[in-house]
Amino acid sequence: MSDDVIRIFDTTLRDGEQSPGCSMNIDEKLDVAAALVELGVDIIEAGFPIASPGDFAAVKAVAEKFGDRTTICGLARCRQEDIDRAWEALQHAQKKRIHVFLATSAIHMQYKLKMAEEQIISRTAEMVARARDYCEDIEFSPEDASRTELDFLCQVVETAINAGATTVNIPDTVGYATPSHYYNVIRTLKSQVPNIDRAVISTHCHNDLGLAVANSLAAVEAGARQVECTINGIGERAGNAALEEIVMAIRTRSDYYKVSTRINTPRLVPTSRLVTNVTGMKIQRNKAVVGQNAFAHEAGIHQHGMLQERTTYEIMRPEDVGFVGTNLVLGKHSGRHAFHDRLTSLGYTLDDAAFQKVFEDFIALADKKKEIYDADIVALVDQRSHQVHETWSMVTMHTSAGTGTIPTATIELRHESGETRRDAATGDGPIDAVFVALERVVGLPVKLIEFDVSSVSGGKDALGQVNVTVKVDDRTYHGQGVSTDVIEAAAIAYLQALNKAIAER
Ligand code: KIV
Ligand code: ZN
Repeated sequence: MSDDVIRIFDTTLRDGEQSPGCSMNIDEKLDVAAALVELGVDIIEAGFPIASPGDFAAVKAVAEKFGDRTTICGLARCRQEDIDRAWEALQHAQKKRIHVFLATSAIHMQYKLKMAEEQIISRTAEMVARARDYCEDIEFSPEDASRTELDFLCQVVETAINAGATTVNIPDTVGYATPSHYYNVIRTLKSQVPNIDRAVISTHCHNDLGLAVANSLAAVEAGARQVECTINGIGERAGNAALEEIVMAIRTRSDYYKVSTRINTPRLVPTSRLVTNVTGMKIQRNKAVVGQNAFAHEAGIHQHGMLQERTTYEIMRPEDVGFVGTNLVLGKHSGRHAFHDRLTSLGYTLDDAAFQKVFEDFIALADKKKEIYDADIVALVDQRSHQVHETWSMVTMHTSAGTGTIPTATIELRHESGETRRDAATGDGPIDAVFVALERVVGLPVKLIEFDVSSVSGGKDALGQVNVTVKVDDRTYHGQGVSTDVIEAAAIAYLQALNKAIAER
């Protein structure tokens, strides 16, 4: 690849998924991987195969499905069994990479690994060589590199390259670096490591001080040619560098960085939305690039400037990141054709069956709501496209609540076998009563971890969107529901989360 193209290494499915509350099941991982392929990332780190059978299966499935289009990577510690397991998961992909890591900072070596410098060097040489026997594309990461003594870091990196590493990644594991510090680390490696020209230097920054994106860009200036990042910046603790911010900074300031990426930027917003829906991890409205307010101009003086010439206050065009400019209102009388056109301009290509279902949802919604906005349509499509296997589906739901009465819910569900079951429950409020009734019918011990309700668009008849996170058997599951009735939206979301738990059980 030419030296002025930055490789985008996406680790949403590995470092992102590792963060609390962001776990995804295998189908969700495949959905995200498909979106990352469409987005045009160069490498997908699909997981840590030795971590669990689920992780192994996900890496294998992603490798088999997408390994002919994008390089699929699996993580391994510097241990024989990790590397062998990573290879087992990746072997059928056409394009594959094994990523091995070993901590190199004094603090990690002393307290975590209990290894001396010489042992780190020999383990690096041995394990990188083992991985290289399997695969030509090998990445090595000296974990906690930004807190590693620089001379030793140079020695480890040189060893890894000699043993066959083709990419050397320099993680700021604990988000400790600052831009000039990190720039200096990369410059030092470039000037002091004799074989550095045989490998691509990569950045991997965590956001504990809010500097992950700035540090990654400083590394690019210093000569790094791969950036590791995640969609929406999800990841351990405060997260990883946000892919959308890195890509748009490089693109918007190509005059300065003089490099580019191969990212299909209009896919940024849809991919961000997908990751939000799948993980239940919402982004703030003013989030750079993909937040709901990222292109909203409120101040009169700004609006005036924008009307004269949009570049007065806009450095990126919303359509370049996947926001659709117009917000055409559809209603009951907009036919299939108009609805189809709207979906296309919102970036969706649905097959006939999926289109038919979403169209039916649209017609049902148009009966309840006079004006349907883009945000409503996006919510309908998202809800349909993330539907899980429905072991149980809703037949009827009835609630009663009010001042001076005990909130009650009656639920009837149908099992996929055809059997129907009904139960009733009381609760703190109607939503609580619905949740208790659902748990009774389904027969699972469930703990509600998070409940969030928001309005999808404006107006009194706006669609309400409910996101729930539940814990079943120590695993977390997300569910999402939309409806003009927030109690119904909550029931849909809760049932979706329970169905996911049943499917995994
Ligand atoms: O943050 C980190 O150090 C990592 C490594 C495994 C690359 O995620
Ligand atoms: Zn990390």
